[in-house]
Amino acid sequence: MNGNIYLCGPSGSGKSTVAPLLAERRGLQALDLDALIEADAQRPIARIVDEEGEPAFRIRERDALARVAARCGAVVALGGGALEDGANRRAIAESGILVFLDASVATCRANTAVDAGRRPLLREPGALERLHAARRPRYREAAICVAADGLTPPEVAAAVDALLRAERVIRVETPHPYDVCIGAAAIETLPDRITPPNGGRVVVVADRAVEGIATRVARAYHDAGFHATLLDVDADEALKSLAGVGALYERFAEARLDRRGIVVGIGGGTIGDAAGFAAATYQRGVPFVALPTTLLAAVDSAIGGKTAINLPAGKNMAGTVTQPAYVAIAPQVLRSLPARDVISGYGEMLKYGLALDAALYAALRAGEAALMADPATALDAIARCVELKAAIVVSDEEDRTGVRAVLNFGHTVAHALEKVAGYGALRHGEAVIVGMRAALALSVARGHLSDAARQPVDTHLASLSVPDTWRALNRDAIVDATRGDKKRHAGGTQFVLIDAIGSARLDDRVGPDDVRAALATLGFA
Ligand SMILES: NC(=O)c1ccc[n+]([C@@H]2O[C@H](COP(=O)([O-])OP(=O)(O)OC[C@H]3O[C@@H](n4cnc5c(N)ncnc54)[C@H](O)[C@@H]3O)[C@@H](O)[C@H]2O)c1
Ligand SMILES: [Zn+2]
Repeated sequence: MNGNIYLCGPSGSGKSTVAPLLAERRGLQALDLDALIEADAQRPIARIVDEEGEPAFRIRERDALARVAARCGAVVALGGGALEDGANRRAIAESGILVFLDASVATCRANTAVDAGRRPLLREPGALERLHAARRPRYREAAICVAADGLTPPEVAAAVDALLRAERVIRVETPHPYDVCIGAAAIETLPDRITPPNGGRVVVVADRAVEGIATRVARAYHDAGFHATLLDVDADEALKSLAGVGALYERFAEARLDRRGIVVGIGGGTIGDAAGFAAATYQRGVPFVALPTTLLAAVDSAIGGKTAINLPAGKNMAGTVTQPAYVAIAPQVLRSLPARDVISGYGEMLKYGLALDAALYAALRAGEAALMADPATALDAIARCVELKAAIVVSDEEDRTGVRAVLNFGHTVAHALEKVAGYGALRHGEAVIVGMRAALALSVARGHLSDAARQPVDTHLASLSVPDTWRALNRDAIVDATRGDKKRHAGGTQFVLIDAIGSARLDDRVGPDDVRAALATLGFA
């Protein structure tokens, strides 16, 4: 693994004791940031704070961390307040993986009692409790969180080590098979897993919203001896255009990328579509590595090889089916997602459950609150969605036999809603949530599903927070737009409907009046 392992947590959570134990397990060097500062200043921290004040101590801390971040291969115990500083957080994000040792106030108090004098910021009464609560949200951003209460330091080190190694690898057995790797260390291990053949170059195309991750990936390839260029882009629909892709080609050429190289796309479906399309077509194809950073991309668009750009004539009108060479999903990157994008990805996950896997649907409902609070905890559900998508892609890679069509549950109306609302007004997965409600109503109307089975699912979907602007859209325009969908057949429009939760079926005979009636049940204005 490239980069450092940083241990964060409140004073007394055991960072300094665990660091050497973990370093030994992983063959790394152990560093203690406070000890480095003390060695530099040739005084204990307590004296630095007393003589120079806390701000001066923080400057020393930032300098020490910058020096540590510039090397790699260490387990670094951070001071309790190190994450309060933005420059420190950036340095950490760009140079390694952050681990939170989550210990309760009681544990921390017991551990700090012995050397309280060394900890000047804990002298005031109640300081431990106050800092514990105030700093916790920052600690929680760590890639890995270990509940440390009741564990001995060697046990904590073993738990961290196990989580760093824990990953799911799902092989997609298309004619050019590839792995989807899901795990906290998926980013750090990338250059160990996939490198440009024959000494080629690496071009990283990244959404500006995830710049820190992108810098880390580019640096990891650089440290592994490759020439790596980072292209930060605005990931909007303008990127998914001929002009947007044209600009990418030019920047690939400037970076002297050729077929021996790889393109790494870091971002949501917008990056996957645009950078994936550019990679698939530049010099007739350069391998593409996907690092999805939205829930929607992780469970859906990053797997399956579809890439697309928009034309003036319509969305996703030009594209390829080109499987990626590798997909790396690090769930912790999802923590910074805006709430609407969490719900959007969740909508797509529910699609897998409703169309293909009743147990997944039940698990998603049971874990819904936890997923909304922290999508990084949904590792099992994400992995299950990837498995389901991978299996379908393998049996119908080019989307020609109809097998892949089941992935379009909820999508005929969703695409129509997105079009009529104006692209971008609704997130894709938000539109899918409303579209699935329409598909459920159609499933009942067409005699596949009982209304008793529909109702609880519909109530659940209706409870999800989707902006209700869709209610004001023109119902006839939506019905019309569903007829323009690619899935149009002689007897009517083809819809994916269900006859039970987890059991999809295709129905070619859904007429415009059926769609209009289904939409009416959803409460259009
Ligand atoms: N190729 C396919 O199979 C496929 C499937 C579904 C959707 N798509 C396409 O995907 C696109 C939508 O993808 P999306 O929903 O992932 O949206 P997106 O890529 O547009 O990202 C949504 C928003 O989240 C931001 N963002 C991304 N990662 C973040 C992170 N970790 N933290 C904070 N912010 C972050 C982005 O900057 C953007 O503002 C559409 O263009 C759609 O057509 C393609
Ligand atoms: Zn979709």
